[in-house]
Amino acid sequence: MSAINHVAIIMDGNGRWAKERRRPRFWGHVKGSQIVSEIVSSAVEQNLKALTLYAFSTENWSRPKDEIKTLFKLLEKFLQRERKNILKNNVQFKIIGDITNLGESTKKLISEIEKESSHCSGLKLSLAFSYGGRREIVDAVNSFLKKNPNQDITEEDITNSLYRPECGDVDLLIRTAGDQRISNFLLWQCSYAELFFTQTKWPDFNSQEFVKILDETRCRERRFGTVSKNASMDKAKTLAEKQRGAISNGG
Ligand code: FPP
Repeated sequence: MSAINHVAIIMDGNGRWAKERRRPRFWGHVKGSQIVSEIVSSAVEQNLKALTLYAFSTENWSRPKDEIKTLFKLLEKFLQRERKNILKNNVQFKIIGDITNLGESTKKLISEIEKESSHCSGLKLSLAFSYGGRREIVDAVNSFLKKNPNQDITEEDITNSLYRPECGDVDLLIRTAGDQRISNFLLWQCSYAELFFTQTKWPDFNSQEFVKILDETRCRERRFGTVSKNASMDKAKTLAEKQRGAISNGG
């Protein structure tokens, strides 16, 4: 069994889900934002250490203004709705990404929730908003070099300078709605992540499917670039057999 501590999700397919129902795109985002609450509760029940959700990418700024406005509004509503649950479930909440363009009331809400949940020791929940993986790496490098101007930078330095280093590497990256790409999400942290692509569009995703994916991934063997436990067992077995043969042959 492999331990799954940090799960990241690319919540894709809201627009297609709405289109299939002959509804405007925002309808899909509204339904999609409701599913977020269900998945966060499920992550708490599953005792995950960290959950990072891609809510708005740096590339999403090129979407129609109205759609961007809807996503901003939904973020605020989500925060208002989840505030109590976050504290009740001992969740430590943070936004990762550049929130400078959000409305003042949303920024205030974010800062309050981040502050009041900072002592929580359960799930580390991150919403990636106006987030880009390359941007995060560049920011990490710059922030390290600013503090250590004359030092060569190491992998560990970058890891420790990311937006939320305490979440660690991603163990499992899930993407809904069928596309099989990473889309500039947590590039550094996903180096050894297991990838899971489901056809389900985000508004149809639910906790049952989420738990099924977690269970399936826990059964995958993760080798992190080494040989499998079985392979090394096999190697050891062959070597022992060879040595035994040599001894019985008088060698
Ligand atoms: C992708 O759907 C989804 C997003 C742009 C981000 C995810 C947003 C939500 C789940 C709703 C907001 C939730 C919160 C908590 C703020 P898409 O529009 O790219 O779908 P498509 O690929 O089918 O067009």
